[in-house]
Amino acid sequence: SRALIRKLEETIENVPDFPIPGIQFKDISPIFLDPKLYEDVIVDLVAFSKGKVDAVCGIESRGYLFGIAIAVALEVPFILIRKSGKLPPPVISEEYDLEYGSAVIETREGQIKPGQKVLIHDDLLATGGTTEAAAKLVEKQGATVSQFSFLIGLKDLKGEEKLKKYNAEVYHILEY
Ligand code: PRP
Ligand code: MG
Repeated sequence: SRALIRKLEETIENVPDFPIPGIQFKDISPIFLDPKLYEDVIVDLVAFSKGKVDAVCGIESRGYLFGIAIAVALEVPFILIRKSGKLPPPVISEEYDLEYGSAVIETREGQIKPGQKVLIHDDLLATGGTTEAAAKLVEKQGATVSQFSFLIGLKDLKGEEKLKKYNAEVYHILEY
């Protein structure tokens, strides 16, 4: 809703030149100082996915902050997509480029089930590299990405274009 968007715009802190010069960092941590606002965010994200997915994948680390609450509310499994080296074998891995740097993400093999319709959730869609790697992990397990959700989309970085090929619904509460 408009009210939620406004409240989030007031609450999320814009930090210039972090973590490197030229990047404007969106600090979502003030949201967690306001439990009512946090709850309103969850209700909004749950409404998007209600009845549409069999599982939620959240991307380490900020994707966990909302993702697990979404999964619990939807009464579906939550699967961790982690940065490399954190999960014990067997894992499935995918390399990707970041807005700054590159990385590998992994998920425990077998936790995402073949045929499942999956929501991939993260706090932020920037270049889309992280989310696209997560989508590849989902498809490697024989499941389908049916939705992507984010708190924030950064439209200049054109992340949504990387997600088009999945023919999934894409939602973000606010856009910069
Ligand atoms: C940030 C953000 C997204 C990703 C978006 O995570 O939380 O996960 O970058 O960037 P992209 O669309 O260009 O791939 P980051 O890797 O900084 O780690 P964190 O969530 O652990 O803070
Ligand atoms: Mg992240």
